Amino acid sequence: MTSTFTTPPPPQGRAAEPPAVVATEVSKVYGSGDAAVHALRGVSVGFARGAFTAIMGPSGSGKSTLMHCLAGLDTVSGGRVMLGDAELTGMNDKQLTLLRRDRIGFVFQAFNLLPTLTAEQNILLPLELAGRKLHRQWFDQVIDVVGLRDRLGHRPSELSGGQQQRVACARALVAQPEVIFADEPTGNLDSRSGAEVLGFLRASVREMGQTIVMVTHDPVAASYADRVVFLRDGQIVTELYQPTPDTVLDRLKALGA
Ligand SMILES: Nc1ncnc2c1ncn2[C@@H]1O[C@H](COP(=O)(O)OP(=O)(O)OP(=O)(O)O)[C@@H](O)[C@H]1O
Ligand SMILES: [Mg+2]
Repeated sequence: MTSTFTTPPPPQGRAAEPPAVVATEVSKVYGSGDAAVHALRGVSVGFARGAFTAIMGPSGSGKSTLMHCLAGLDTVSGGRVMLGDAELTGMNDKQLTLLRRDRIGFVFQAFNLLPTLTAEQNILLPLELAGRKLHRQWFDQVIDVVGLRDRLGHRPSELSGGQQQRVACARALVAQPEVIFADEPTGNLDSRSGAEVLGFLRASVREMGQTIVMVTHDPVAASYADRVVFLRDGQIVTELYQPTPDTVLDRLKALGA
């Protein structure tokens, strides 16, 4: 990749430990022959533990594809993805399903909450499905960080968009996954609710050491991260540490986004 650094990047997250997720020369081709779309072209990147990383780039640059390949939701056409010591590439569907269930958390643009369950039941569902025991103290800590204590008995339809997304974040966090992948988590929210959710994601990194990788179009959302990597045409073209909305916008403009 093209490096824009003249000095080494500042340490972020638990930089002394091996990265939570590493992609090496990952490529992804959809379709074949004349219809082939090269969505990823040799992406190599690592995501530090305990750090909040944003992925940005123009529409169609491969952000969602990269996230899906990193999270074992899609297979790669070439290259390797490691989650800790586990190699995702080469796993069969059953192994990937278990790995996602036990080691990865997801937050999507659509909140994906079950409408008939209360906030608390939604948050606890993944643990139940995995047959895992709830650590009440951790649950309490998560609920306090997301500020949902007085909403636990409400169903999704009785919550604001921001509150629903905070429930989705709490659901991801309560299982203490090695990494949370978020694809446009604030895409459906007004700016105030978006700030609420981003502040909460930031706090979960700072106070709980969570590792988060988030796709976003929004320079303000990206500025909550420790680091931003920029994709264009399926390749990582630049990155930024300690981003601000202005520095992110400048890089995006330089990319022609
Ligand atoms: N299932 C698919 N079949 C064929 N082509 C696909 C498929 N999914 C994505 N693509 C193509 O791969 C490229 C990358 O798509 P991707 O969804 O990763 O982009 P993105 O950066 O997330 O864009 P956006 O910002 O619009 O969400 C695009 O050209 C897209 O049309
Ligand atoms: Mg996308």
